[in-house]
Amino acid sequence: MKIGTYYYPEQWPRQQWERDFDNIAKLGLQIVHMAEFAWFELEPRPGEFQFDWLSHCLDLAKQRKLEVILCTPTAAPPIWLSQQFPQTLPVYEGHIRGRFGGRRHYNPLSPDFHAATRRIVQAMADRFGDHPAVIGWQIDNEYSNPFDQSEITHAAFRQWLRDKYGNITELNRAWGNQFWNTYYTDFDQILFPPSRDPRYANPHHSLDASRFWSWAFATYNRIQAEILKPKIGRRFLTTNFMGLHPDCDPGDMAKDLSLMAWDSYPVTGHEKEGDDQTYRIADPAHISLSHDLMASYHNRWGLMELQPGHVNWSGVPVRLYPGAIRLWIWTAFAHGSEFVTTYRFRQPRFGIELFHHGLVGTDGITPSPGGEQFAQVIAEMRKLDLSRIPQFADEPPRPRQTVGLVLDFEQLWYYLSLPQARRWNQPRWLTSWYAALSRLGTQIRILRPGSDWPADLPLIVAPGVQMVDEQLMARFDAYARSGGNLVLTCRTGLMDRTGQLWEGPWASPILPLISATIDGYDSLRDDRFGKITFDGRDFSWGVWGDQLTPKSGAEVLATYSDQFYAGAAAITRAKLGKGTVSYFGAFSEQPLVDAFVESLAKFIGPARLQSQTLPARVQVLRRGPYRIALNYQDQPVPTPAPQSAKFLIGSSRLAPADVAVWEE
Ligand code: GAL
Repeated sequence: MKIGTYYYPEQWPRQQWERDFDNIAKLGLQIVHMAEFAWFELEPRPGEFQFDWLSHCLDLAKQRKLEVILCTPTAAPPIWLSQQFPQTLPVYEGHIRGRFGGRRHYNPLSPDFHAATRRIVQAMADRFGDHPAVIGWQIDNEYSNPFDQSEITHAAFRQWLRDKYGNITELNRAWGNQFWNTYYTDFDQILFPPSRDPRYANPHHSLDASRFWSWAFATYNRIQAEILKPKIGRRFLTTNFMGLHPDCDPGDMAKDLSLMAWDSYPVTGHEKEGDDQTYRIADPAHISLSHDLMASYHNRWGLMELQPGHVNWSGVPVRLYPGAIRLWIWTAFAHGSEFVTTYRFRQPRFGIELFHHGLVGTDGITPSPGGEQFAQVIAEMRKLDLSRIPQFADEPPRPRQTVGLVLDFEQLWYYLSLPQARRWNQPRWLTSWYAALSRLGTQIRILRPGSDWPADLPLIVAPGVQMVDEQLMARFDAYARSGGNLVLTCRTGLMDRTGQLWEGPWASPILPLISATIDGYDSLRDDRFGKITFDGRDFSWGVWGDQLTPKSGAEVLATYSDQFYAGAAAITRAKLGKGTVSYFGAFSEQPLVDAFVESLAKFIGPARLQSQTLPARVQVLRRGPYRIALNYQDQPVPTPAPQSAKFLIGSSRLAPADVAVWEE
């Protein structure tokens, strides 16, 4: 795995460039990421290109054996573009037009913006496409914008709806417009909403708006991808996503990219759990879920931005736990990342991010604690024989050590528009299952409705997959019947893909699978928790609880032990064909999810699922011949390694935020 940094030569005096490149190389970094926001310096006037400085920097990198990720600069349109073509600027609610002076001030659907994009990207591709220093290209930066309210966007939304529904009657049906008689008689009457929140209007409209907005970014991205592809040979093509940020579903862009990448800022003071370990070291499940999501598209992924220390934007400038950055870099390695780069090399002394750490401090030369940790990992990695690590893509599947977790972006969107329970947080629910599964010491494979699902996974968990279709139900059914162990949770199978409830019993498509009925659900106020008894112990829940009545063939594994429905089933398991389907009826606190997964692993048995029981917040993963143990606790733990392990890094005891690597 290569390690590198962002460097913005255009932000620093030219006479410092050689020194900075020297220092980048001296730190042991192998990749430099450039040009991301440099549109003005590259094209100071429309059509007038000034590329020699960048060419010089590519040479400076090459001379030092640094590889380059080159970026298209479209996330920061120059003043002349905003001024000459104000219609490229976004429009916010209330017809307020966005302004020049920051970044992302563009509408991805604007034809004038497309023309300007084509011109700069084509010129860069022509000049640098096959430059020997360049290993890959990044398009734009972190696609995301509030829902645009311009006429351009309304018109594009209408066209997208026409293409999707064909006629207005179909749309009225899909949006349930008989409700309050909100019928449209023509597509031209429809507006793109100002946000994902329907504000007591139409949630089906909001769901389509989320789909459309992601499509809009993907369509814009494709303009750039199609220009670059013929010019860059076998170099990778990517963009940097933001984990589960809802503005774009990475799946909409995956086919236009050859490698997926995301930006990880694990400690920002916003973490849900306020304990010191989460607050300063981070939640490993949260990070790893996005790593594995990225891996799920092409088996090729990279960590584009890794937090190098303090960030400027969170409002809670937490000082990181010593060693946390090293731990994060090793975590990316363990999950199969091709590279880790960080935003950024030099701490800026100006601009909105002047409090943001870099690998070197404000003097431009002294390594920050983050810089030292980057250098430490680079030195440690030399102890591994990287030639023995096949790219993640080439590793044979290891079904016995792999479990599946279903993640579908459309569900995230609909939960945001129609949460029903205020406390329902779908990313948190997914992360909760990820955390429990990772304690088994298995690899976790993210399964998407449209992706390949390996046939012989011993366990698949599908948390809160509210909207289903026949294909997905057939997949669930076939998986369990052929011997799989499927876990469905509350709020699975309630609706079709338009987000409408079934005309039938509650959650009707899943009832034959779970052999139970769902009699009702409950949700408790933020400060209240109910109890569920599982395995003779009491556990808390509060966000959501389904009360179940099992039918013959279903076993009750847990029951509610308080509230007026005490005794009702909360978790059931039924046989289906050669396999089983468990229904986990409550969005509970973490301990119940952990205990259930642990007992399920025992039920499946070591012959099919070779699992361990790792301490919470400790991961053990395999990459090539190496095993990597990661401790996200603020307490020391014994390294979960065999007695015979010969450690390349670390030892039989993992200090807080520590890493150990041994050969299998
Ligand atoms: C990222 C962004 C970077 C930089 C960074 C600061 O989201 O892509 O350009 O702004 O945040 O943490």
